[in-house]
Amino acid sequence: IPVDPFDFIIFGGTGDLAERKLLPALYQRQMAGQFSEPTRIIGASRSALSDDEYRDFARKAIIEHVKAEEIDEGELDRFVARLSYVPVDAKTGDGFETLKEMVGDSTAIRAFYLAVAPGLFGDIASNLAKHGLNEGDPRIVVEKPIGRDLASARELNDAIGCVFDEHQIFRIDHYLGKETVQNLMALRFANALYEPLWNSAHIDHVQITVAETVGLEDRVSYYDKAGALRDMVQNHMLQLLCLMAMEPPSSMDADAVRDEKLKILRSLKRINGNEAPKLTVRGQYKAGASAGGAVKGYAEELGKDSDTETFVAIKAEIANWRWAGVPFYLRTGKRLAERVSEICIQFKPVPHSIFDESAGVITANQLVIRLQPDEGVKQWIMIKDPGPGGMRLRQIPLDMSFADTFEVRNPDAYERLIMDVVRGNQTLFMRRDEVEAAWQWIDPIQASWAENRHTVQGYTAGTWGPSSSIALIERDGRTWHESM
Ligand code: BG6
Repeated sequence: IPVDPFDFIIFGGTGDLAERKLLPALYQRQMAGQFSEPTRIIGASRSALSDDEYRDFARKAIIEHVKAEEIDEGELDRFVARLSYVPVDAKTGDGFETLKEMVGDSTAIRAFYLAVAPGLFGDIASNLAKHGLNEGDPRIVVEKPIGRDLASARELNDAIGCVFDEHQIFRIDHYLGKETVQNLMALRFANALYEPLWNSAHIDHVQITVAETVGLEDRVSYYDKAGALRDMVQNHMLQLLCLMAMEPPSSMDADAVRDEKLKILRSLKRINGNEAPKLTVRGQYKAGASAGGAVKGYAEELGKDSDTETFVAIKAEIANWRWAGVPFYLRTGKRLAERVSEICIQFKPVPHSIFDESAGVITANQLVIRLQPDEGVKQWIMIKDPGPGGMRLRQIPLDMSFADTFEVRNPDAYERLIMDVVRGNQTLFMRRDEVEAAWQWIDPIQASWAENRHTVQGYTAGTWGPSSSIALIERDGRTWHESM
């Protein structure tokens, strides 16, 4: 369904995010017929480019980041024709007057996308206000990291919040735009089957894994100051945990969903003081092999020694009636054995077996929601092995692979999220109190690591992280799920 015409202004318009994600996503949405005329896209950054130079930049970005078979020359020409460019300096305010003239008194929906370092959020917001660009109910989109702890997150939220109202602020967590993440809500709330089992009476534990094979990439200055806990757990992993664990919201209304997620964040049991060494693991990859080739260790890539973690495992607990006593094991890392993100729900075993030993072991049921790659849902159940040889039991998956079931392109998360910004739908965006509640849980872990000198443990690139991560779960008589 086409959306109303909009003006989409990208600060950081020549940056990495615009190049790899935003421009390709906008192009795809035009291809899908979602734009109405006149829709305009304006790049803004410090470089002194002309409109034509920016169009060339966008054209190259799309050719490089969109599959060749999805590129249509005519469509691409029409896309770049809607682009223009304005050089701006967020510190001095240069260029904002020109931007104001460009958008003029247009009644189109207006969205400002801040694909810039968070240090510039406040300056951009105040320059927008100074030039009256915050009038007429525009939306503003901000990317993570929203702070590096609770205090800095509050400062950033205040800086944006004094110019824009909360209903205008779209804090992106791109995991919420992934198809399978939204499918988690469909699975839970469009089926009556799971809800009665979705609690501590029937679920033994939950595992959330977001494993990457990439290393530091080109993000040295950001990543080394952040580390995996801030980069992945504070946002993506906790959002997955919230969607998995929240109470059914009364509707898909933005605040109905976000109220429920907030309750989960606030119910997370604090890990502080001397608990962190028992409940958390920090790792950093050393030289090894990944994706079929030899790779350097993190410190070598960085060019210096560092105590930043590239791997975290945490045993978390949600202190409420539904989940008390059910561990949520989280793990994420770079340069791991495989690129795989999944949520694995381990149900409790049968209370009593009626079969004799020759039937084999009865494995407790598992539900595995695979977010990427090979998106899909597998419900593992026990069946009788076919044949006349008596009762032999075996575990098989009821397997729903998205690729096999649907012959459609799997859209990138940004495509969905950008269109939600234009539509003004905040359901898949983080509210201020959510971001801050997540930091409230993260801060004591970070503080305890510092107090206890909880240094990183090395792991060989291409493995599943430090051995203490395996110990973290095996101590409880459980094992990390191996994707099958
Ligand atoms: C980003 C992190 O938010 O998510 C990166 O900053 C990480 O470090 C990326 O690589 C992972 O996203 P995806 O969509 O590739 O799983």
